[in-house]
Amino acid sequence: MKEWYDAIESAESVGKLEEIRIAVFGKKGVLAGEFAKMKSIPNEEKGAFAKTLNTHKAALTAAFNARKELLALEALEAAMKAEAIDVTLYSRKSGRGALHPVMQTMDRIVEYFTAMNFSVKTGPMVEDDFHNFEALNLPKYHPARDMQDTFYFKDEMLLRTHTSPVQIRTMMRHKPPIRMIAPGAVFRRDYDLTHTPMFHQVEGLLVDEEGKVSFANLKFILEDFLKYMFGDVDVRFRPSFFPFTEPSAEVDISCIFCKGDGCRVCSKTGWLEVLGCGIVDPNVFKAVGYEEVSGYAFGLGVERFAMLIHRIGDLRSLFEGDIRLLEQFQ
Ligand code: PHE
Repeated sequence: MKEWYDAIESAESVGKLEEIRIAVFGKKGVLAGEFAKMKSIPNEEKGAFAKTLNTHKAALTAAFNARKELLALEALEAAMKAEAIDVTLYSRKSGRGALHPVMQTMDRIVEYFTAMNFSVKTGPMVEDDFHNFEALNLPKYHPARDMQDTFYFKDEMLLRTHTSPVQIRTMMRHKPPIRMIAPGAVFRRDYDLTHTPMFHQVEGLLVDEEGKVSFANLKFILEDFLKYMFGDVDVRFRPSFFPFTEPSAEVDISCIFCKGDGCRVCSKTGWLEVLGCGIVDPNVFKAVGYEEVSGYAFGLGVERFAMLIHRIGDLRSLFEGDIRLLEQFQ
């Protein structure tokens, strides 16, 4: 029997132990063989023989179970060791974050104008009718209100449709001269390939004494700014209309994709529209109580700039938060 105790003790694997189980406890195993000997044992010795055998059986079973438990424990420990995760280790791939391309573009625009001594102003996104429309020479029922499909709340409150109300707020708080930009989110009821209900604008306003601010000043700074943003492009001013400026212009750059030859992006015109501007309408100054001043203003869409600079085809992709797009702007 001793050899079987040793065999159990020294079984190195679950498989080996199973072999031993069959050899010891199996139908044709050692114990079965020993019990079979009972037949040929004299009656008076049977009791003692059976007793020893049963003691062995119990002891072998106990040894077997103990070994089995130990092997299972060892197997578990080995598995845990092999699959262990060191939570104290720094992740090798610690991803670097990045600013959203729209914010990067906004920062670059702001950088230009702050270098030109413009200060940065902000205003509320929930505006009132006065600041968003009325003071900007857009009285109620003025047809030009249709240019901007507005989200309305109760009591003449609305989501600002442009950053121009920040002009009004700034002029009502400060005396001239003014030299400001207002970057921020604006809202319109629009959703397609080139429009989203929320987008960003940067507004600019410069006000000084009467006769001091001319269209030439406006033209100079916007040309310089657009070359800063887009490199060596041609710039063209097209007469246009905004209620708050007179005269007004829309500004185009020569198409950065085809260099003006005409392509799909510029609809074969060779030009890309990038901003609106003009000389501040006297009615706007009247609304904020300014007298004997002159000024210019401009406004641009930041997403449009970002799309042109990074050649992004669908405006909506800027707002989907797709990590595969955003990773390209690290
Ligand atoms: N507020 C105008 C718009 O959103 C842009 C603009 C601003 C035009 C300032 C002229 C002067 O379309």
